[in-house]
Amino acid sequence: MARRKIALSLYTLVLTLSAVSLAFAVRVVPLMQPHERPTFLRPTFNRIFDTSMYGILQLNNGLAQTPQMGWNSWNFFACNINETVIKETADALISTGLADLGYVYVNIDDCWCQTRNSEGQLVPDPKTFPSGIKALAEYIHGKGLKLGIYSDAGAFTCQVRPGSLYHENDDAKLFASWDVDYLKYDNCYNLGIPPKERYPPMREALNASGRTIFYSICEWGVDDPALWAGKLGNSWRTTDDINDSWASMTTIADLNDKWAAFAGPGGWNDPDMLEVGNGGMSYQEYRAHFSIWALMKAPLLVGCDVRNMTAETFEILSNEEVIAVNQDPLGVQGRKVSVSGTDGCYQVWAGPYLDIG
Ligand SMILES: *[C@@H]1O[C@H](CO)[C@@H](O)[C@H](O)[C@H]1NC(C)=O
Ligand SMILES: *[C@@H]1O[C@H](CO)[C@@H](O)[C@H](O)[C@H]1NC(C)=O
Ligand SMILES: *[C@@H]1O[C@H](CO)[C@@H](O)[C@H](O)[C@H]1NC(C)=O
Ligand SMILES: *[C@@H]1O[C@H](CO)[C@@H](O)[C@H](O)[C@H]1NC(C)=O
Repeated sequence: MARRKIALSLYTLVLTLSAVSLAFAVRVVPLMQPHERPTFLRPTFNRIFDTSMYGILQLNNGLAQTPQMGWNSWNFFACNINETVIKETADALISTGLADLGYVYVNIDDCWCQTRNSEGQLVPDPKTFPSGIKALAEYIHGKGLKLGIYSDAGAFTCQVRPGSLYHENDDAKLFASWDVDYLKYDNCYNLGIPPKERYPPMREALNASGRTIFYSICEWGVDDPALWAGKLGNSWRTTDDINDSWASMTTIADLNDKWAAFAGPGGWNDPDMLEVGNGGMSYQEYRAHFSIWALMKAPLLVGCDVRNMTAETFEILSNEEVIAVNQDPLGVQGRKVSVSGTDGCYQVWAGPYLDIG
């Protein structure tokens, strides 16, 4: 077996954040020695290698060695979901080739659950998920994909379905019995109890279920989860919900940037799911959105209708070089290293990566 050559390189993304003109370039350049550092990088060059918090706190369940990739129903379908659309999405991930590029999690968001039964177990909505979640998991697994589900660290979910607060063990056990692979755990109707108290019980319950389940903490960046959630989850939202606009996307990118030193294999900052393909941004803006998310080592969870993507949407989501930056095994979150121009409209984002050749 040939010895692998490993070199540390630098990835840069140059963005012109302007309403009139938007241009960006993705360049991969070899590690720059001190004498050849460009002026614009000098003040912050060392900072981009700051991984002082990385690898120390991360949850050790073997998952999330690179940021999770897949799809989630919320950004496009919201509550309008059913088992057919979930299955068709899984089929489309396969037929388009997106699954082969790493998009393997098929994640159901809110609205799958109707009520609790007399034994206190969560019951899938009989109208929209008549076959049940275990059958759906079987279908998804049959395609080589993984199934994600959703619940809430509160009395109710955001769409007022039953929440898992004080039902953590029962619900985790049920998810495990359905062969679920991923849990997104939201923050609505939380009774004012701090996230630091509500999120650990589900981590313990998932662990006790005996099934390895990805734990996606979604407490909207309340109480700075980067500082504590690495011990609990495989990713943690750092901000409020994204919406399908340039203003939202760039605001969230800036908020997420602050926590770069805390991301690493095992646990990632989560600036929320992708809006690429949902129609609220231009082609160039979606390219920038996908590039920044990839560079920030954000989860790449597609949020559009993959059964019906335009060629442009597919081109963005299937860009193998950009995906490779996201999935780089070094796992150092890229960050904003230079800002200039009116309203900070000219920015450079960069990060180191492991070049395995
Ligand atoms: C399932 O959901 C999709 C997407 O909202 C919708 O187009 C379709 O009509 C629904 N199918 C059924 C059987 O309800
Ligand atoms: C439970 O936690 C222990 C200790 O961190 C870990 O070794 C084990 O893999 C976890 N099990 C599951 C099913 O996540
Ligand atoms: C989307 O987010 C932006 C930035 O946070 C905000 O100004 C805007 O009002 C939001 N739009 C909607 C429709 O919520
Ligand atoms: C597919 O997407 C286009 C917009 O790109 C939309 O006009 C059309 O209605 C969609 N078709 C279906 C079946 O959802």
